[in-house]
Amino acid sequence: MKIGNVEIKGKAVLAPMAGVADRAFRELCVDYGAAFVVSEMISSKGVSMGDRKSKDLMFLSEKERPAAVQIFGSDPMIMAQSVETVMQVNPQIIDINMGCPAPKIAGNGGGASLAKNPELAEKIVKAVVKASPVPVTVKIRMGWDENSINAVEMAKRAENAGASAITVHGRTRKQMYAPPVDRNIIAEVKKSVSIPIIGNGDIVDEQSAAIMLEETNCDLIMIGRGALGCPWVFSQINAYLEHGRVLPTPPVSERMRVMIKHIEKLCEYKGDYVGMREARKHAGWYTKGLHGAAKYRQELGTLENMEQLQEIAYKICMENR
Ligand SMILES: Cc1cc2nc3c(=O)[nH]c(=O)nc-3n(C[C@H](O)[C@H](O)[C@H](O)COP(=O)(O)O)c2cc1C
Repeated sequence: MKIGNVEIKGKAVLAPMAGVADRAFRELCVDYGAAFVVSEMISSKGVSMGDRKSKDLMFLSEKERPAAVQIFGSDPMIMAQSVETVMQVNPQIIDINMGCPAPKIAGNGGGASLAKNPELAEKIVKAVVKASPVPVTVKIRMGWDENSINAVEMAKRAENAGASAITVHGRTRKQMYAPPVDRNIIAEVKKSVSIPIIGNGDIVDEQSAAIMLEETNCDLIMIGRGALGCPWVFSQINAYLEHGRVLPTPPVSERMRVMIKHIEKLCEYKGDYVGMREARKHAGWYTKGLHGAAKYRQELGTLENMEQLQEIAYKICMENR
């Protein structure tokens, strides 16, 4: 299938996740067969003002393709202006964040709060599409709250404004990440527009991937939390969707090997100090539920160096033999 002129192989896309789905994690997910990846959200204002941090955040390597850069903001002109700088990292797609519930984003008129102003949302998409040489996609929620479900209207407006695909996270802003995802609304959006729809929410394995595709008829699926500490979920979902095969979960030794590789990349790209601090949460996810891992939880949470991580990984392997 294609998003605009970009060919997409596979069905499972890695979700944008600020503070988590960075270059190290995205490259790993591409290795495991993610159909494409999306950067952490980038402030259009920051990018337009030449902010160093925004520029670092949007960097895309050649090992993580196809890739989208996701931008957020509420001013159509600034959003459009940011495109020129975003294009310096050569993304295949530009994605617009209209789903983030965080007060820092939604409280400033961007992210999910655009659901409360569909006319402005449409203007933003139109301005970004006009400025962008690559296809533009939009990521929305089902609405602001249960009394204002408007994903269908938002999707129609985005299509009208020239968007090439829409991701629908089947929850309202008010619901944040908690209640089960509503697949009916994703199915409704799929029926109401002709551009590709990416279904998102609560996909964690082959079954939940197949259910999302079957119940909504969406074109692609997007996986966020289900990939944390578990990037091989992409190869498991691909094997199931393409060949009906259920791949076993990798053995603990392999999981620990992937964790170490991931954290080595993290340190290589961000330096040891930042890398080891960010490694703590990833190590928690990789070891979650493993026999004997609970007693290393505190040590993982204060991890300082690779030797410490390797030692814990070795002990966990021994306990799970
Ligand atoms: C830690 C974290 C960070 C996130 N950051 C972003 C973001 O930068 N942009 C965005 O559009 N969505 C963001 N999301 C939402 C996810 O992309 C996704 O829509 C949501 O987690 C639901 O999918 P899931 O059930 O597969 O996790 C984030 C979610 C999490 C858990």
